[in-house]
Amino acid sequence: MKMIPEEWSKLSFAYYPTNYNVRCYYRDGKWGNVEISSSENIIMHISATALHYGQEIFEGLKAFRGQDGKIRIFRWQNNWERMNFSARGILVPEVPKEIFEDSITKVITLNKEFIPPYGTGASLYIRPLLIGTGAKLGVAPADEFLFMIFVSPVGPYFPTGFKCVDVKIERNVDRAATLGTGQFKIGGNYAASLVSGRQAYDEGFKMALYLDAKEKKYIDECGPANFFGIKNNTYITPDSSSILQSITNMSLRTLAKEAGLKVEQRKMPVEELSELEEAGACGTAAVITPIKSIHDKEQGKIYTYGNEPGEWSVKLYRKLQSIQFGDESDKYGWITEL
Ligand code: PLP
Ligand code: COI
Repeated sequence: MKMIPEEWSKLSFAYYPTNYNVRCYYRDGKWGNVEISSSENIIMHISATALHYGQEIFEGLKAFRGQDGKIRIFRWQNNWERMNFSARGILVPEVPKEIFEDSITKVITLNKEFIPPYGTGASLYIRPLLIGTGAKLGVAPADEFLFMIFVSPVGPYFPTGFKCVDVKIERNVDRAATLGTGQFKIGGNYAASLVSGRQAYDEGFKMALYLDAKEKKYIDECGPANFFGIKNNTYITPDSSSILQSITNMSLRTLAKEAGLKVEQRKMPVEELSELEEAGACGTAAVITPIKSIHDKEQGKIYTYGNEPGEWSVKLYRKLQSIQFGDESDKYGWITEL
């Protein structure tokens, strides 16, 4: 039994140990039973494909504690679908829905005491992992796999919370190729972003904004999040073959439409940054992170959007969070109450 954080509202986005995680093994062509573990370690073959050939998929979603004390999981079915989309992308067996559901229910229930109380702004981050554990030396998919979920109570991804950040356009590194693996949530994409992410951070920026790998004309991914902008009562977000299909972005498009905005998912030329009234990054960890400036060093341009979050970013942030925390009823079927 480990300590429970006393100061939930001070949590950052960092690993915090909990009591249990769950695991399910794939052997001889079939998935086994969901097992409960209190160990934070896994034992793996030295030649496992996850270690050598990148057969590693992960997901990220959250559970929230409401004012009524209830626990609400946000859109887990979409994470399950996306995990299996990634699985098809790198020759990993898909996880049946019942196993995903059983695992997520078990891991949250077993770690209930780690779900931050309502009003602290914190939530329970849920991290499913699906990896190749079978040994191969030649480049090939494994025969054995492991699906796991662990959880961690978290605060905001950026310690400043819902505050505007500075972003840097990255013109010297591609996070993912146009016809590559950018749509899959696999470790390799994140490895590809580490150097540029660190460099951006060292230069005083919170995120690197990547451009399309082929032409360097269009906006692609924004750090560990999707990009969106607001102009002329329109919510605009990039359509690209090399970005993750963000579930947060999907939700924001629905909420934006309902709030009376037009919604456009299309290629966004870099020059369009000068026309935006608001800009932001969105994702499970980032929620909405409003952007105050985007620096395009190579082109000698700085796009600015003000020091305070824009009107629509605030509205959409509040709306999304009030559904997630259960302040507002969920008419979309996004919430699973535990
Ligand atoms: N893009 C990248 C690269 C991410 O890592 C994430 C986080 O999951 C997102 C976008 C946002 O996706 P979601 O809203 O499903 O969390
Ligand atoms: C998420 O938002 O869930 C992410 O995966 C972002 C990052 C922590 C990788």
